[in-house]
Formats: sequence, structure tokens, C-alpha cells
Amino acid sequence: MDAIASNSADESLASKDRKYSLHPYTNLNAHDKNGPFIIEKGDGIYVWDDQGNKLIEGMAGLWCTGLGFNQQRLVDAATRQMQEMPYTHLFSHRANVPAIELAEKLVRIAPAPISRAYFVNSGSEAVDSAIKIVWYYQNAMGRPEKKKFIARRRAYHGITVAAGSLTGLPYVQDGFDLPRIDVIHTETPHFYRYGKNGETEDEFTSRLAAQLESDIIEAGPETVAAFIAEPVMGAGGVLIPPAGYFEKVQAVLKKYDILFIADEVICGFGRTGNMWGCETYDIKPDIMTVAKQLSSAYLPIGAVMISDEIYQGLASLSDKLGMFGTGNTYGGHPVSAAVALETLKIYEEMDIARVVQQRSLRFAERMSALQNHALVGQSRNVGLIGAIEIVKDKHSKEQFPVADKVAWHIANAARAHGVILRPTPGDAVAFCPPMTIEDEQIDEMFDAVQAALDDIRNQL
Ligand SMILES: Cc1ncc(COP(=O)(O)O)c(C=O)c1O
Repeated sequence: MDAIASNSADESLASKDRKYSLHPYTNLNAHDKNGPFIIEKGDGIYVWDDQGNKLIEGMAGLWCTGLGFNQQRLVDAATRQMQEMPYTHLFSHRANVPAIELAEKLVRIAPAPISRAYFVNSGSEAVDSAIKIVWYYQNAMGRPEKKKFIARRRAYHGITVAAGSLTGLPYVQDGFDLPRIDVIHTETPHFYRYGKNGETEDEFTSRLAAQLESDIIEAGPETVAAFIAEPVMGAGGVLIPPAGYFEKVQAVLKKYDILFIADEVICGFGRTGNMWGCETYDIKPDIMTVAKQLSSAYLPIGAVMISDEIYQGLASLSDKLGMFGTGNTYGGHPVSAAVALETLKIYEEMDIARVVQQRSLRFAERMSALQNHALVGQSRNVGLIGAIEIVKDKHSKEQFPVADKVAWHIANAARAHGVILRPTPGDAVAFCPPMTIEDEQIDEMFDAVQAALDDIRNQL
């Protein structure tokens, strides 16, 4: 889905002088007659397209290039590892030094008693592997019927057959015959849009926790294995959980012995102003999935991080079966692992959580100023991630017809003013700049957004 949405280039902004009668890659929108938006180079928080336009990468790519585009140390780490040992796998009790060190580091910095890391190449694979790990663990514990998942509507957990089943956005599933695993999608913790008239935020979160409990009871608690949640829902529109939400949810899960998978693929590594989204929202996960900022996206790598209790379950069943029969050729690739390790070193040296907290002051100030704009119903943010939700009527919260694609037009207008943003479901526009952004650059970004909003308001 990420690729499909980002390929929706406005005619005036596309690369007109290039002829693409046959697009040599698969993710292009079939109806998009213009060439793709091609980015040719990057430096710091800026990128340059193939027309020479300089833009602020206000989405850090796909919520992932947390350190921006000029980290020579990451290039050097990759080069060193390429020269030393470009490839070895982790099958059959083999290992490589960067993967071991990376696993040790992840376990050390985890926000919960996590004891192992299992490496993959993307966020979707991490979630997919977490699903398999949960099933394997439940089998190990003699609970073969405890296999269902609970996710939330508007969640994004990736696109593979199983992870895409947990995603709660129709466009990831429609046409693909998903979901294909047993999953219940419960309510979305977005008070602004789904709170009832007169309901307080506290009543709202209690209602959602009660709904979760009734979903579990209806499914049969003995059949529900795990709940999965992004601490802040990213691709669904940057939905920030209301106070108390995760506390109430965790109480329900505990009551029915249901595992908590924290999908930290966007929130992990400083984005919300703490190392982990789980810290920002006091979540005690049994399993965590990470990717994206793990390597600042310089190379593909993801991981599933698991508690010792789960690890012991996996070990006991694999002893019986003779092996833990899963893994992939590039899982724990030494070059990706070396780059991830260097990324974590940089985060540590710069104290990334503190940096994000500092920068988030200016970011929050400018986000909150957007709230005054006629088109903005809600402006929401935490750390260095946020969104504005576009409305036709601020008072009633009425939205524009979906077909008007107003958020999409705003994102395109922002691009004309030099900032890459992302339209999301729910007619919102998302912000997620590299965490290295400076205060003046935050101002530069929001000045452009303000101008883009004015442009679109004048056109409506
Ligand atoms: C929370 C979350 N989980 C999983 C994924 C899937 O990651 P990938 O695109 O690397 O497969 C994403 C991607 O945006 C995500 O935001």
C-alpha cells in the first residue's frame, strides 16, 4: 500500500520530460499516465528530484530514514562489513558477529523483559514471523485452540498474507482475498472521530476496553492468542491513543491470558520521544516487531523481539520436533546487521530520545498552530510524528467526500511548496520528518504546509 499511495503524482509535478510507456516496476498505479516521482539524491533532511527540485523529506521516506540522508558512518559500516564478510546465514546453528551483537543490543535496550531477537528483512516479515511464533508457542504450551488474533480497524501491520490479514485498512485487503487468518478487528482509539456526542475521553477508552472484552468473549477466550497494536497507529492516519487506553486494554488482555504484540515498526527508536512507543504509553509487550528506523532504512532489516517465556516455549517444542523450522536466506544479513548496529550506536551517542523531545517542542507548537486553519479539524502529534485531519466543517467535523481527495491535494500542494508529506486514510495528512530535523527546518516545513493549505482552501 505504501508504494501505491506514494505513486499518485500530480500531473504538474510529475517528471514530464521522461517517457515511461512501460513502467519497469510493478507498484505503479495503473491509471497514472505520468512518469513516477523520482528522487535522485539526498542530504540531511532534504532530497532532490530528477528535475532538480529540493524538497524536505517530511515523511522520512516511509517513516524510516530517521537519521536523514547523509550518514557517512552507515555507509562506512556497510563497506567495512562487505569487505570483511558480505554474507553468511543464520540457519543450522550458524551465526555472524554483527547479528549477535545486534541481538544483544536490542535485548539490552528493550523496554520489557525481552530475551531474544529473530531477524528478518522488513516490517511485514517481522509481523508475519510474530504470528508464526505465537502459533508455535501456543502449540508448545498445549493450547492448540488458542490461535486467533485481535487487531484494530485502521491498523497497518504490513502486506504479506498473514500480516496483511492483521492490517485493518480495506485497501490492503480488497482484491487480495484477505484476511486469510483468524482475526477480529476491534475499535480504533481515535477519540476525535469515533468519540460519541457528550462522551468523555475516559468514557471512550472504557467503551473500547469493554468492546475488546466482548469481542474476546464472543470469540471464546480460550481461542484468542494475541492482540497486536502499533503504539501510535501510523499509516491509518497517525492516530494517537487517548490517555488510559492502553492501561485498560492491557488489563483486559491479562484477564484472558492474551499476549501483547507491540508493532514498533514506526514508533521504535525515538520517534515518539522515548526509545520505544511502549515506553511512551506504558505498554508491557510479550513480543515486539521492529524494522524501518532500526537501520534508518539504509538497508532492509527487521526483527521480532520475544520474552524469555516465549523463547522457552519455542525451544521446548523445537526440541521435540528436531528443529525450529523457520528462517530466511537474508534474515540477519551481516551487512544489514552491521548498519543497524551502527545506527543504534548513533542513536545512543546523540541520545535520540532527548533530541526528539527537544525538537518536538517546536514541532508541537507549529502543529498546534495549524489547528486554526479552516481546513484542519484536528492537529495531533507526539514526538516527531503527527497529522492534520481535514474537514469541511470544523464545528460538525463533517468531512469532504472521499472522491474529492482533499488530503491528497494538500500533500501535492505541499510538494509544490517543497515538502513531501503523505495523505492517509481518514482524509489526514501525515508528518514524520527525519529525527535530525532542526528548529529552523521545522519552521521551513510548516511555512510550506501553511501555504499549501491556503492554496487548497482558495481552490475549494
Ligand atoms: C506499524 C507497521 N508495521 C509493519 C509495517 C510493514 O513494514 P514493511 O513495509 O517494511 O513490510 C509497517 C509499514 O509501514 C508499519 O507501519
